[in-house]
Amino acid sequence: MQEHIYPIFDHILSRQDKEQLLQQRAKVIWMTGLSGSGKSTLAQALERDLHAAGIMTKLLDGDNVRAGLCNNLGFSEADRSENIRRVAEAARLFLDAGIICICSFVSPTLEIRDLARHIIGSEDFLEVYVNAPLEVCEARDVKGLYKKARAGLIPDFTGISAPFEAPETPFLELRTDLFEFEACRNTLLERIRPAITVL
Ligand code: ADX
Repeated sequence: MQEHIYPIFDHILSRQDKEQLLQQRAKVIWMTGLSGSGKSTLAQALERDLHAAGIMTKLLDGDNVRAGLCNNLGFSEADRSENIRRVAEAARLFLDAGIICICSFVSPTLEIRDLARHIIGSEDFLEVYVNAPLEVCEARDVKGLYKKARAGLIPDFTGISAPFEAPETPFLELRTDLFEFEACRNTLLERIRPAITVL
């Protein structure tokens, strides 16, 4: 026993303390899918819906995280892994604070999502596959990135020159090409609510 290490553990508030205060069960909702599949829009809608229901959330999104926490990373396999590792560690901190963390990341491979699941813990990791076929995402091309990727201006672009592996057994799959946005939004809320509600 090292004398100079002050034993603070008895005094640290637990995740249960935080969950009790907030009257919610913390989870990570992990949205995966191609660029343009509708992840971010659905993640934002979910956050608004949960907020309106009195639930404390934090949204982490590829587009904002890559401007700060991960601003030194690109889209090579190694950089994507590091991106997801940092995000998963950050999500775990929110989990410890009793907060529902909604993560919206392409997170394109089984391996990369396994890494996130491992860091977060599988019982707290709710994987949502936001699924629209590549042709549909490419036709939408909200950010104009598919056009650039086809022109060879963006290397390693998911779906074009880098792989996307669909989840095998997601908690939920949303086909945004087959169902209207409001229907997907409602399905998402209905499935998530029981998982985070204190009985
Ligand atoms: S991930 O693969 O590391 O999970 P992340 O979700 O953070 O990706 O970022 C994806 C977003 O970055 C896309 O929605 C798109 O706007 C942009 N982007 C820029 N370059 C690429 C690329 N090569 N592949 C995929 N998305 C890219």
